[in-house]
Amino acid sequence: MSMEVIQTIDGLWRAKHHLCREFATKNQKRPYVGLVPTMGNLHHGHLSLVRRMVDECDVSVGSIFVNPAQFAPGEDFSEYPRTPEADLMQCEDAGVDIVFMPESDALYTQDHSTEVIVRKLTERYCGAERPGHFAGVTLVVAKLLNIVHPDIAYFGQKDYQQFRVIERMVRDLDFPLDLAMCPTVREPDGLAMSSRNAYLAEDERKAAATIYSGLQELADAFATGQDGAEALKEVARTELAEAVQLEYLEIANAWSLDPKESAASGDVVLIAAKVGGIRLIDNIVLAAGDENAH
Ligand code: PAF
Repeated sequence: MSMEVIQTIDGLWRAKHHLCREFATKNQKRPYVGLVPTMGNLHHGHLSLVRRMVDECDVSVGSIFVNPAQFAPGEDFSEYPRTPEADLMQCEDAGVDIVFMPESDALYTQDHSTEVIVRKLTERYCGAERPGHFAGVTLVVAKLLNIVHPDIAYFGQKDYQQFRVIERMVRDLDFPLDLAMCPTVREPDGLAMSSRNAYLAEDERKAAATIYSGLQELADAFATGQDGAEALKEVARTELAEAVQLEYLEIANAWSLDPKESAASGDVVLIAAKVGGIRLIDNIVLAAGDENAH
């Protein structure tokens, strides 16, 4: 069956209702519905989420919406890469049933006045560097969950803080769904895939790869017995190329994201840095020597 591309909320409800009824009639059971929310410009990272959804769900919905609410003034909202035709082809090839691709005014009415704020978790790291960013993310994700009503939604581990923020919102507001965190997909040199990598010049691209090699060095040092956070962070800093301007580097509890002085297995190392003015983020979860670190 061919994929449907829907631009309105009503249209999405109708298309989803139709597919779910068809599935239920044929299989005598309610379908398991999945959602992968994206801002488009799909790369292998997004496609790994999409493929997992198609594999695990009876009805699969992808959304493509460059959400203005999560860009602060002066950020790259208008330049954010938009490649709708290529995105739709990739979704269709992956077997997605419905792509929801609304215009901004279909999602946000002129006088919309509701905020969705997750406190504490959003106050550090990317939340401190990008004021208002997470409020924009939680607003649009809450809206998408209410519009699509999925049983499960998939997000990438690359946006680790975003995942924990969405998870907290889902728990606190009792959204009835599961969340899946899918592993970061990387370029051969380790750089985490991101739509913003396309902005990097060749030498910046090389420098950017040291963000992940720094994280790996840190994780290796932890696996061999070092646990002082300051010393571990220094291991990563030493690995970073000169062109990498560190914004933050922290070892944090995986759930609360509180910074740690002494690292433990399961903690997450969060990093953000600018390379040639392009902001990149990454993370790694620490594992003791007898576990698999990366
Ligand atoms: O991770 C993203 O691409 C976005 O923040 C999301 C979750 C699609 C919300 O706009």
